[in-house]
Amino acid sequence: MNPRLLVTGGAGFLGTHLLRQAKSFTATGTLHHTPATALPNVTFHVCDLEQPEEVRMLLDRVQPEIMIHTACSDQGANLSAIVSAAGLLAIQSDERRIRFIHLSTDQVFDGMAAPYIETSTTCPINPYGKAKSQAEDLVRSLNPQALIVRTSLLYALRSPDRQTRHLIQATSTGNPFRLFMDEWRSSIWVENLADALLEIATKDLSGILHIGGPQALNRWDFGMQLLQHFNVTPTSNIQKGTIQESGLVRPPNLTNLTFNSSKAQQLLQTPLLSLSEARMIAQKFSDNLSE
Ligand SMILES: NC(=O)c1ccc[n+]([C@@H]2O[C@H](COP(=O)([O-])OP(=O)(O)OC[C@H]3O[C@@H](n4cnc5c(N)ncnc54)[C@H](OP(=O)(O)O)[C@@H]3O)[C@@H](O)[C@H]2O)c1
Repeated sequence: MNPRLLVTGGAGFLGTHLLRQAKSFTATGTLHHTPATALPNVTFHVCDLEQPEEVRMLLDRVQPEIMIHTACSDQGANLSAIVSAAGLLAIQSDERRIRFIHLSTDQVFDGMAAPYIETSTTCPINPYGKAKSQAEDLVRSLNPQALIVRTSLLYALRSPDRQTRHLIQATSTGNPFRLFMDEWRSSIWVENLADALLEIATKDLSGILHIGGPQALNRWDFGMQLLQHFNVTPTSNIQKGTIQESGLVRPPNLTNLTFNSSKAQQLLQTPLLSLSEARMIAQKFSDNLSE
């Protein structure tokens, strides 16, 4: 019997990949407003994760052994859902002895002391980072057995993700588009992260784990590599910029939002891939499909 896995945010970016790759689980995803991509052998349930009664009914019905909570990101206006959903799921998973993996972000840090390890002190500076940090604290206090996985910027390679789509569109609209030279992240291929999470789902781990790519890339180099990957020629309106001149409220020195994921790499068989390694694997896959 495959373990019963519940993935919240089943129509989200990471959630969709997790459910698609969860072939050795009996997988269920939650939906909110967005309809799901049809996936073979995956069941979906609509649930507002801020509503205690809906959450209880969902868990009664699905009886998951493992729950990976990807829902409630920086998309959408309701950042408070990040905290309330995390609290509800932490209580319920503790009471029901469900293994709980909660997704968090590198933005719980301020960018002043990288590369960050699991024991680094959090110091979020924007509303999203603050909400995710509060959610982490709540999860740890309400379910000490939970595992909090902090990850970095996610990207897709088989078809462009949302941010890469915007970049590709800009090459045809001619509108100015700046890619920051001073924003460095430990970006990770969403399929690589999904594999790592599904491996972790079978292990009895608690606490905090950082899972990012092994190579720090700034947004300019990252964007240029993604354009190359999707065979799009950069145009002159795609320009180098800096966070400072953009006026965005971001950690002041995002060079320092990079992660040290060596703890995860020691625990996992799934290798954490750099962008160039991930591109090679994605390329092999598409070559095999076209043969
Ligand atoms: N993407 C990244 O680069 C990145 C980087 C670091 C960390 N993370 C973390 O990784 C996780 C997954 O990110 P993602 O990019 O896959 O997120 P996403 O694509 O924005 O998906 C989030 C999902 O949460 C659902 N949701 C929002 N409010 C809800 C509610 N009250 N009840 C039920 N579902 C609700 C949304 O459904 P509707 O759209 O239907 O409302 C959506 O499907 C998040 O925890 C995020 O903070 C992501």
